[in-house]
Amino acid sequence: MRITMVGTGYVGLVTGTCFSNTGNDVTCLDVDRDKIEKLNRGQSPIYEPGLDELIRRNHKAGRLTFTTDQRRAYETAEVVCICVGTPSDERGQADLRYVLSAAADIGKAMEAAPGPTGGTIDERRAKIIIVKSTVPVGTNARVREAIAAETGKKFSMASNPEFLKEGAAINDFNKPDRVVIGVAEKGTGDRLRDLYEPFVRQGNPIFVMDIPSAEMVKYASNAMLATKISFINEIANLCEVYGADVDEVRRGMCSDRRIGNQFLYPGLGYGGSCFPKDVLAVISMGEQANRPAKLLASVHEVNQRQRLEFIGKIEEHFNGELKGKRIAVWGIAFKPGTDDIREAPSVTLMEHLVSEGALVSAYDAVAEQRCRALLSDSIEYADSAVEAVKGADALVICTDWDEFKYPDFDLIHEKMAAPVVFDGRNIYRLELMREHGFTYYSVGRSPVREASGRQVPAGG
Ligand SMILES: NC(=O)c1ccc[n+]([C@@H]2O[C@H](COP(=O)([O-])OP(=O)(O)OC[C@H]3O[C@@H](n4cnc5c(N)ncnc54)[C@H](O)[C@@H]3O)[C@@H](O)[C@H]2O)c1
Repeated sequence: MRITMVGTGYVGLVTGTCFSNTGNDVTCLDVDRDKIEKLNRGQSPIYEPGLDELIRRNHKAGRLTFTTDQRRAYETAEVVCICVGTPSDERGQADLRYVLSAAADIGKAMEAAPGPTGGTIDERRAKIIIVKSTVPVGTNARVREAIAAETGKKFSMASNPEFLKEGAAINDFNKPDRVVIGVAEKGTGDRLRDLYEPFVRQGNPIFVMDIPSAEMVKYASNAMLATKISFINEIANLCEVYGADVDEVRRGMCSDRRIGNQFLYPGLGYGGSCFPKDVLAVISMGEQANRPAKLLASVHEVNQRQRLEFIGKIEEHFNGELKGKRIAVWGIAFKPGTDDIREAPSVTLMEHLVSEGALVSAYDAVAEQRCRALLSDSIEYADSAVEAVKGADALVICTDWDEFKYPDFDLIHEKMAAPVVFDGRNIYRLELMREHGFTYYSVGRSPVREASGRQVPAGG
């Protein structure tokens, strides 16, 4: 199929590249010239494991091209996937301006292209406009109207929400747990089934349903995952107060198969470009329909509070006096495997530390550039995890990148001015930290307050 991806970001670039890899002819369109120039030079604008190689291979084979030229992108495409951003607006609603502006562009390009206007729709041939962006129920209908306002040409609409996870995006897209397709006409569903068939060879389902249900599946899924995170964080906070260990609680609880063990890790709360905005969008959908989404309002509140609770631990340790304190931060990305820092807990935390007069030295092997663009020179950037902790009064772990999981603890201890660790991801065992002589704060577990087990050399 000839496919155009509108928006060459985390979703458009990954899904477009994977579609080209199964033999489709894919054009990735973006309004961001720098991004497209970079891609045409063979460089990926985002960090996603395995993506560079796939882009290079398919670009070289001529199946994957990048452009800012709308006419070229839209004219001959059989399928157009809208993958532009849908950030929260100031009221928490999904901001649809990029989606609707892309829809108007598509309509104009269709109108300018040769071909008959009007008549009945031929489901086997009509251009299919897919909304892949995460959008509130009813948005496909608005996109249809926005396109139809610009052209009399016939087209089909489909909702095809994307479930890939940054950091594992290629595998997720190539081997999805499920594919969800919302359509109004059966023929459109059949054509999209064919497009996805190569990705579900192992028998995972393709669900074809009505458009509003498909739109809702995505929000319901993300809202559920966010709920699990806030749930375990709430339990973790209670564990701290009542002297329980959330790791033990988690183990005991998750062995119940009805509960399962996925997505129940306590920490700094969820961040990233999806969960925060999608939870807010569902809350807002509830408000607009006068059906308040009370559970999700709490999920959001618990998540916001989680960062503040953690900051509170740091402040308490320093008796509220952060001015002049040197704080190392390991991990900036909102999760490992990506350079995405949108809504990252690390950013809230670092901004707070800086506002209180602390000196922050951060290290993240892939997210540094994005952080520089956001926080400029308000913090220092280290070239390695060890360099970040030199002379630090405390280390804060914000992202559980593999390289932080088993560092040379003695070296870290030696380099720090004070061996204090605030672990927002619970990556170390309490005993281990005790043995290595750290004061150690984590989430939902008792703090290790003193360097009791360590053999401190005389005079040291
Ligand atoms: N990032 C994820 O992990 C993920 C996963 C599933 C679903 N989603 C959803 O997919 C959508 C896209 O997310 P993303 O993270 O890829 O966004 P992104 O910000 O990385 O990319 C969006 C791109 O669209 C471009 N764009 C905006 N308007 C345009 C237009 N009129 N024409 C062409 N290009 C245009 C922007 O320049 C940008 O490059 C969102 O709705 C998001 O919720 C994201």
